[in-house]
Amino acid sequence: MKTKQTIAIIGASGNMGAAVARSLSKGNYRLLLCANNLDKVQTVAYEIKESNPDAEVEASDCSKDASWEADIIIAAIPYAAEKEVAEKIREVANQKIVISIANPLNDFFNGLVTAPDTSAAEELQKLLPNSKVIKAFNTTFAADFATPVIDGKQADAFIAGNDLDALQTVSELVETAGFNPLVAGDLSVSGTLERMQLLLIQLNMKYDYNWLAGWKILHQ
Ligand SMILES: NC(=O)c1ccc[n+]([C@@H]2O[C@H](COP(=O)([O-])OP(=O)(O)OC[C@H]3O[C@@H](n4cnc5c(N)ncnc54)[C@H](OP(=O)(O)O)[C@@H]3O)[C@@H](O)[C@H]2O)c1
Repeated sequence: MKTKQTIAIIGASGNMGAAVARSLSKGNYRLLLCANNLDKVQTVAYEIKESNPDAEVEASDCSKDASWEADIIIAAIPYAAEKEVAEKIREVANQKIVISIANPLNDFFNGLVTAPDTSAAEELQKLLPNSKVIKAFNTTFAADFATPVIDGKQADAFIAGNDLDALQTVSELVETAGFNPLVAGDLSVSGTLERMQLLLIQLNMKYDYNWLAGWKILHQ
């Protein structure tokens, strides 16, 4: 059996962080859930333990300590918080996989705040030059983690990154979360994935459109 990996989820009290944590708690992982607000992240850890007593899950308000212990770090935080978090974890995230799930949306949800030739993931890689940044889960809505299998088929979750071993590890993690991992390309593809999610969010707001449900409008 493979050694149990430790995953730090920074932003685990948020919509995405909590959804990812709940999904991964079913796998062979030790989860360290972090956020600024310890009470909120303790509640998420408590709920996970209540529904899955075998889950190994702990709560912390120190993203640096959790990242130091972790094999894999998931940055489930807003794009605007990435610089601050990267500064805290830079030294302890050396050579580790850091998953960027951020969509750098503007306040009006009609554009991205990143320049056209870059992405949230590539900017995070610049902030963490010695880590292996992988883009994953940005095209998945938090609500979709509860039902990743639609009409008997696992929904696709796109991944992008430069390190082949890291892509393999994240593919396994995505599969544990219940999705079908699809490597879309190297880290430069992240910009396309982030713009794709911008479009999907706009279509979802306008038409209640959900591509995971089979590219369809849910309610007419
Ligand atoms: N929601 C979705 O369906 C969805 C889908 C795909 C991708 N995403 C991406 O996922 C990320 C999180 O979105 P969300 O909807 O989960 O947001 P959210 O519900 O607002 O949660 C944000 C989380 O980040 C933490 N956080 C904020 N600033 C922080 C900082 N400076 N240091 C440490 N932790 C910090 C918050 O903890 P505290 O409250 O304790 O500060 C909270 O746990 C975003 O980048 C978003 O683009 C979201």
